[in-house]
Amino acid sequence: SRLLVLEDKQQTTAGAAAAATTQLHILFGSQTGNAEALAQSAAKAARAKGLVPVVQGLGEVDIDVFATMRHVLIITSTYGEGEMPDNAQLFWDAISASTAPRLEQMHFAVLAIGDTGYDGFCQAGKFFDMRLEQLGAKRVTDRIDCDVDYEEPSEAWIGGAMPQFAASAGSSGTALENLPEAPVIPGSNKQNPYAAALITNKRLSGADSGKDIRHFEFDLTDSGLKYEAGDALGVFPVNDAVLVKLLLTQLKADYDMPVPGFDRSLGDLLTYQFEISEPSRKLIDWVGQNTTNQELRHVLQHDDKDAMGVWLWGKDTLDLLQLELTRSLSVPEFVALLRPLQHRAYSISSSQKAHPNQVHLTIASVRYHSSGRARNGVCSTYLAERVGRGEKPAIFISQNKAFRVPAKDDAPMIMVGPGTGIAPFRAFLQERQATGASGKNWLLFGDQHQEHDYIYQDELVAWHQSGLLTRLDLAFSRDQSEKIYVQNRMLEQGAELFAWLEQGAYFYVCGDASRMAKDVDHALYEVITRFGGLSEEGAAEYVDKLKKEKRYLRDVY
Ligand code: 2AM
Repeated sequence: SRLLVLEDKQQTTAGAAAAATTQLHILFGSQTGNAEALAQSAAKAARAKGLVPVVQGLGEVDIDVFATMRHVLIITSTYGEGEMPDNAQLFWDAISASTAPRLEQMHFAVLAIGDTGYDGFCQAGKFFDMRLEQLGAKRVTDRIDCDVDYEEPSEAWIGGAMPQFAASAGSSGTALENLPEAPVIPGSNKQNPYAAALITNKRLSGADSGKDIRHFEFDLTDSGLKYEAGDALGVFPVNDAVLVKLLLTQLKADYDMPVPGFDRSLGDLLTYQFEISEPSRKLIDWVGQNTTNQELRHVLQHDDKDAMGVWLWGKDTLDLLQLELTRSLSVPEFVALLRPLQHRAYSISSSQKAHPNQVHLTIASVRYHSSGRARNGVCSTYLAERVGRGEKPAIFISQNKAFRVPAKDDAPMIMVGPGTGIAPFRAFLQERQATGASGKNWLLFGDQHQEHDYIYQDELVAWHQSGLLTRLDLAFSRDQSEKIYVQNRMLEQGAELFAWLEQGAYFYVCGDASRMAKDVDHALYEVITRFGGLSEEGAAEYVDKLKKEKRYLRDVY
């Protein structure tokens, strides 16, 4: 160990000598860990260019310290409809304030990741990029906005940005250290998935429910995989053979048709490699330019995101090919317009402390009818009905380090998770049961009908009876004439809820981002003003403090 200490020292000295001129601060705003993972790989690229990377979450960065930084790479995702990721919000508040310090000596670049499927694509990155420029910082290279298939473009961009940073830092470009690569356990990241046997696929919602919510269990025996309650599981889906067949017919092509530039047949490409449900932007644009369809031409001309969303609703790649086209689309052209099939990430609904060799998911199957055809959510229906005998879905653990049970065993937890939003809280409760944590636990759960949609009822009732669940509040929205939602229960129990917050409770929300999480957020403010006796301003400060102390945590989508 003496040798190790010595080596450590040498590294620190080498680092410190270079630090004054060549430190590159890589600051990430991350919701699910993608931006954080990118920050780590950017650090590697920085080292190779002789820079000394310092990786930090934006939530860790003090605005005054930030003002002293000379070289800054911001890597941020965007949350929901154009919002800051949770760990970036307070930093953003500070830097967007009129009191923010000037940044004349700073050189910066921004890598934004987002999802063109949402409004406010890459908005968080755009805001940072604009604000740093306003404050006088110099851009070393133009911002990149990456879609969900961000790996390749972001890697290429990082590869181009590092020499620019090195040049502006006057670094020699020789690598300071060449860290040996550690072997990767399959399933520990997206690049190295693990083939896991699906050992349980059980319907949780009743036969008469409007929803098909399922409980899945994967076998992790001998995988060596580790996850924490709060993590998500990435699943690589396989497309629906029915849709593949319809597409082949539309393209007048056979499954086995070779496609230039690929070593798999057309059928395999459509089944395993490309997204064929949700149309890509490229495909929409191509069709828009080559169709007589007035509606599509109209929304494209007016560049109206809302109208586009409405027009696209329920449409897949086949619907686009079936519009009247003014010229035909060849198979290689079509393939070139598709985007790679993405994994889907689901909040894990088990704790490994309770299930050492398993990982559980709780997923609603997405199914609906549109224009005379049955439509299926790609991954939810893959897991529900298309995993063949002996077939092992490719999965990986997607860490969500910001979403954890409290480090302090005795801190109370308030968990708001209607519908499948219950998933991580089932994991949290299993975790606390396994560790014997003494903190109080309160779950607010709901769905449409108690009779059909009260999933995990037996477990929840047992936990309530055993005392693990101190409080269990239910909101079944359609069991009475007026809607009752979880946020109504929050207000009904507002005095108690505020008392828990005062006792240091953590407030968690999981589920629908566009409506539920927003309404729950409003209800939280209302509880604080009404039952904490605070002004609106006071409530805003109270919530900021909760966020700063990482006691207001959301896993919403
Ligand atoms: P609804 O469909 O009857 O309106 C899980 O999907 C539950 O969330 C359902 O009971 C659903 O009710 C409810 N829900 C819908 N919109 C909501 C909102 N804005 N806030 C909270 N819950 C909501």
